[in-house]
Amino acid sequence: MSAGAPIRTFDAAAVAAQFPILQREIDGRRVVYLDSGATAQKPASVIEALDDSYRLHNANIHRGVYTLAQEATERFEGARERIARFIGARPSQTIFTKNVTEAINLVAYSWGRRNVGAGDTIVLTPMEHHANIVPWQQLAREVGARLAYVELAEDGRLDLDALDTLLKLEPKLVAVAHVSNVLGTRNPVEEIVRRAHAAGALVLVDGAQAVPHMAVDVEAIGADFYGFTGHKVYGPTGVGVLYGRRELLEAMEPFLTGGDMIGQVDFHESTWKELPWKFEAGTSPYIEATGLGAAVEWLDALGLDAVHAHEQELTRYALQALAEVPRLTIYGPAAEHRGAIVSFALDGVHPHDVAEILGREQICVRAGHHCAQPLMRRLGVPATTRASFAAHTTPAEIDVLVEGLARVRRIFEL
Ligand SMILES: Cc1ncc(COP(=O)(O)O)c(C=O)c1O
Repeated sequence: MSAGAPIRTFDAAAVAAQFPILQREIDGRRVVYLDSGATAQKPASVIEALDDSYRLHNANIHRGVYTLAQEATERFEGARERIARFIGARPSQTIFTKNVTEAINLVAYSWGRRNVGAGDTIVLTPMEHHANIVPWQQLAREVGARLAYVELAEDGRLDLDALDTLLKLEPKLVAVAHVSNVLGTRNPVEEIVRRAHAAGALVLVDGAQAVPHMAVDVEAIGADFYGFTGHKVYGPTGVGVLYGRRELLEAMEPFLTGGDMIGQVDFHESTWKELPWKFEAGTSPYIEATGLGAAVEWLDALGLDAVHAHEQELTRYALQALAEVPRLTIYGPAAEHRGAIVSFALDGVHPHDVAEILGREQICVRAGHHCAQPLMRRLGVPATTRASFAAHTTPAEIDVLVEGLARVRRIFEL
């Protein structure tokens, strides 16, 4: 160990043993996967659930009367119930989407086009992923609304006084990441909701980087909309979730229309199904949903609180170890205010070069703007290198990263 005390409370190595891909060796080296922020690897139980769904239970849902179709429907709706429970929501308010990007677009189109008008304000933060910026830009452009951004404090947290100032503009919506995918900042969403609601604004929370790492209860948070994406929660690609407050969802028009979401279709008009199916047009990712159901079951068995405590300790350990690397800048707040993400830059070395040299040793980190170009502008950098952690990450892997950075410095003679 290069810094701090070893972590004993959580057996991350035993967790890692459940991931087939983490057993791979490439060029004689074990893969050190520090890119869960981009997508999580999948434990065997998720892969098996997907395999089982395809092998034994596949038929299109909601329509068939035969056993296979009923099984597929039950597995899909069962997954919805499990996932709803996982985030403290009701199944009828737990809508399957393709990913969180689609969840946010759903709100921007179905709620936004009806409820945001000329001169209205939408409040965002500079740390949003493009998925939580561009749909609002499109809406603002179409209806003549404007966007306003909450200022960041020096350490990469939101300046809540600046939020209060913007709330005086009586915005229609505040859209905010629960955890920043670059700075790692964990935003105080309950407090943001409280202040926004007092000012008459709704709140959409992008939970993409939170749901895999901490217990989330959407009703306790009080958010009007909360979205996340399955592939970052150890589930498959192609499935995400939107939670919405019932009155809002009921009042909203469908986002996509077509098969499966209808009540009756006549030649000139149609009616819709009730919630949540009103928002699920076409064949849903019903197999993927069973994979996501298995993923949250897997996480529940580990215990979200234990996972969170492990990742907090790991992040603290990483921040400590990285702080000792000369000429390295770390972005974002102290460990107690962040999720399992650390972005950094080595003075004089392009973040892509850092990632590439680490990649030669199968240390998987990401470099780039992380789909957060406005934030890069605010930080005054073109890109950062980002290490992001998961339940299976061990302190020894942080040590490998730190050793890798020492090698980068030697190559660049820093
Ligand atoms: C905070 C945040 N929001 C949204 C997204 C978009 O996720 P997806 O591409 O699965 O829709 C990401 C993915 O990196 C993210 O980190």
